[in-house]
Amino acid sequence: MRERIESLDAVVLGGGAAGLMCAAVAGKRGQRVLVIERAEKPGRKILISGGGRCNFTNIHATAANYISANPHFAKSALNRYRPENFMALVDAYGIAWHEKTLGQLFCDGSARQIVDMLLDVVAGSGGSIVTGQDVTGVSHADGRFRVSTQDRVVEAPALVIATGGPSIPRMGATGQAYDLARQFGLKVVEPRPALVPLTLGGEEALFRDLSGVATDVVASVGKVAFREAALFTHRGLSGPAILQVSSYWRHGQRVAVDFLPGSDADWLVEAKRSAPKRTPNALLRERLPDRLATALADRIGLSGTLADIPDRHLREAGQRLGNWQFAPNGTEGFAKAEVTVGGISTAELSSKTMEARRVPGLYAIGEAVDVTGWLGGYNFQWAWASGWAAGMAL
Ligand code: FDA
Repeated sequence: MRERIESLDAVVLGGGAAGLMCAAVAGKRGQRVLVIERAEKPGRKILISGGGRCNFTNIHATAANYISANPHFAKSALNRYRPENFMALVDAYGIAWHEKTLGQLFCDGSARQIVDMLLDVVAGSGGSIVTGQDVTGVSHADGRFRVSTQDRVVEAPALVIATGGPSIPRMGATGQAYDLARQFGLKVVEPRPALVPLTLGGEEALFRDLSGVATDVVASVGKVAFREAALFTHRGLSGPAILQVSSYWRHGQRVAVDFLPGSDADWLVEAKRSAPKRTPNALLRERLPDRLATALADRIGLSGTLADIPDRHLREAGQRLGNWQFAPNGTEGFAKAEVTVGGISTAELSSKTMEARRVPGLYAIGEAVDVTGWLGGYNFQWAWASGWAAGMAL
């Protein structure tokens, strides 16, 4: 018996943030679109995002908040589909939201509202979604893409890779985007875990005793610095500031942490003049959590009162506290990474349409592409914007 082949205008592989947006936009433009999703339910990463409240965008998003081999690539899509556009959609669905901090917008209720909204927009635009389907093969001939799953065979002149990155494999994440890219001869920038906790070993493993302690810091790798909270964990370092720098960190690099943002290196010397009988530990406890203050004072070797300690030593201590050098021995890997740095090379794609330059009709969007946002709603904004750009071009 000959297999029945469904004919469509576009097939979107992956029913996550980018794929659903793309299908909705293309459907509205009259395209017959099918989304093929491997998991039983679409949008699983949206559901767990933002602690269940989905940090769905960041009002300050510009290309400067993204990491890519080509820092200009994301500009076109981000400029054309802006945070305000997604906020308008959220408002039209009556979803209440609030700005938490640093331009990060979260649902007041639940991330489920964002998934339901996207599913409704896709359905309303005539698009279809099939779930629980493993892609068993993709072929391309005579300008048409043929996609086979265990249940069906579909064909279309356009295929959109929206299968995300390999972060959090237990959520169903796969490296399929890269396999498909390679199948079609597209280069892939080496994927690395990003927005991921860093691990400490050797002498620094002692910091693990501070597990659970958090404090406001400036963390930096090379010239990139973030002022947010850092958290000591039983394996090393985490918290927003560390997650942010992890996306830039490479093996062998140091992470500098300023434990006293805004203080200059002489602050202990100045304190000695005004309160010579105080101990450095007591002073540090005014500005840092107790356990951290004690651990840092011990490590620097600050004991006795300020009056007992030479100015030179106090100045060095101030410098060290403002520029503590950690040498992570790794990350917690894709199992714990919120996103992936790297992916399908932007050199292969049109920044306007996300279409592969060398393979007309093939598109790649979202996390599958070598564009990775900072922590704080930037990754969803890229998923919406790149999905919109491809949806407008299909
Ligand atoms: P996404 O991963 O969303 O979707 C890909 C889809 O493809 C999945 O549904 C997957 O099952 C499917 N798939 C995979 N392989 C397939 C195959 N072979 N065939 C068919 N389907 C396949 N970002 C942000 O901006 N704000 C936030 O609050 C958070 N919070 C957050 C928390 C956690 C725990 C994680 C892990 C990540 C975040 N993120 C985030 C990042 C954000 O979730 C991520 O950047 C986007 O979901 C990427 O959207 P995509 O559509 O590209 O991939």
